Amino acid sequence: MLVQPQVESVAEPDIGIKRFHIWTIGCQMNEAESAKAAALLRQAGYLPTQVEEEADVIIVNTCVVRQQAEDKAVGHIGSLARLKRYKPGLRIAVTGCLVTGQQAKLAERFPYVDLFYGPSEFERLVEIAPELREVDFDLAELPHYYDEGQSDPDVTAFVPVIYGCNFVCSYCIVPYRRGRERSRPMEQVLTEVRRLAARGVKEVTLLGQTVNAYGHDLPGQPDLADLLAAVHEVEGIERIRFLTSHPKYFSDKLIQTIADLPKVCEHVNLPVQAGDNEVLRRMRRTYTVEYYRERIQKIRETIPGVTLSTDIIVGFPGETDEQFEATYRLLEEIQFDKVHVAMYSPRPGTLSARWEDDVPRQEKWRRHRAIETLQERICRERNQRYLGTTVEVLVDGMAKGRWRGRTRGNTLVFFDSPGEWKGRLVDVRITEASPWYLLGEPVGQPAAPL
Ligand code: SAH
Ligand code: SF4
Ligand code: F3S
Repeated sequence: MLVQPQVESVAEPDIGIKRFHIWTIGCQMNEAESAKAAALLRQAGYLPTQVEEEADVIIVNTCVVRQQAEDKAVGHIGSLARLKRYKPGLRIAVTGCLVTGQQAKLAERFPYVDLFYGPSEFERLVEIAPELREVDFDLAELPHYYDEGQSDPDVTAFVPVIYGCNFVCSYCIVPYRRGRERSRPMEQVLTEVRRLAARGVKEVTLLGQTVNAYGHDLPGQPDLADLLAAVHEVEGIERIRFLTSHPKYFSDKLIQTIADLPKVCEHVNLPVQAGDNEVLRRMRRTYTVEYYRERIQKIRETIPGVTLSTDIIVGFPGETDEQFEATYRLLEEIQFDKVHVAMYSPRPGTLSARWEDDVPRQEKWRRHRAIETLQERICRERNQRYLGTTVEVLVDGMAKGRWRGRTRGNTLVFFDSPGEWKGRLVDVRITEASPWYLLGEPVGQPAAPL
């Protein structure tokens, strides 16, 4: 789930206007929160810039899920010391999971940072951008503009629906940094989705660390299936996705709902983490391999053409060769369409950080590599099946001179064509397949303005 650092896009130059720059690393929740901070600052009259040196306000949105992400974020904050010296008027804010509960320590370590604010504490941005006093934070939910230099509205948007996590997986720092589960009321989510649709957004991805735990803390206890059905009614929205699901709550009702609702895409992201019951037990994942396999079977039986993705951790404390082999075999057996694999990284405060990190670095690399190699082969084979077929693609923009979009199953597709395709659902005939994306040509419809 880890994304590469992303920056806000450049807009038309304009003298005297204040500019902001947002640097983001981490999960989709962070991307959504950076988009919201950007929307707020725009409403306050700021414009985005890609050039950090030009910015009056810089926000660094951090992640600590693994040491590597933390190091990148800390390195980036460190690199701003110089800029602040040359430009004392610059205001720097740091947010995200690095900040929760660590404000005092961080303030000491980075004295030139003007503001540390926890995830979702947008109101505190007023402290460095006083113009925000004039902004209605509620209405500002939404101009989601952030896609690669485009200043027109995005085709896809992330919508957080449940914050925090009530699980306590032994390796995971997220519950300590994002707190207990809090669902947003259904009406609030629907208002946001309607506003997005009115702005031209065609696809929404409902977000949560355990998105399928949605609703248990709300009056009447609606669940994710109910929420999907409600979002399905919003006119203008063509596709609905949701991330990340926990196997424990992947109910029959949810599976049937995905199958029944045409706008809900046939794609399920269901992290398994390991293919061995003893490792799963020590990870505190609360399910067995047999249970997971049965859910996958049910999903495949009920949702024709469904694509599947998962997350894996290799080199968890005590993971033996045989236990790793079991994970490898599970991936061979299930044949996921996408696998995110990470090397175990001990995180402060978690249960497993008290156990010896005893799989040598070299061995973690070997296991990581083995899974990547296996998965590349599986993805190549799976993507080959699309050759000569026609798939529905929602075009979200251009990349390197070609139109880019995704299938309902979330596979990337590129095609060359004159005309304006952004925001359109296009039938594309697939002519080339790689493990990571498909190439093709549009069929049946001429390109036209939106
Ligand atoms: N809520 C999701 C995932 C949240 S974190 C779930 O339950 O699966 C995203 C991914 O980061 C996890 O799926 C896991 O594969 C990885 N991850 C989390 N903590 C990690 C750690 N300490 N070391 C390595 N990878 C980790
Ligand atoms: Fe972390 Fe587990 Fe919660 Fe996912 S379910 S966020 S891995 S504690
Ligand atoms: Fe990272 Fe926090 Fe997301 S640790 S993965 S930014 S919830």
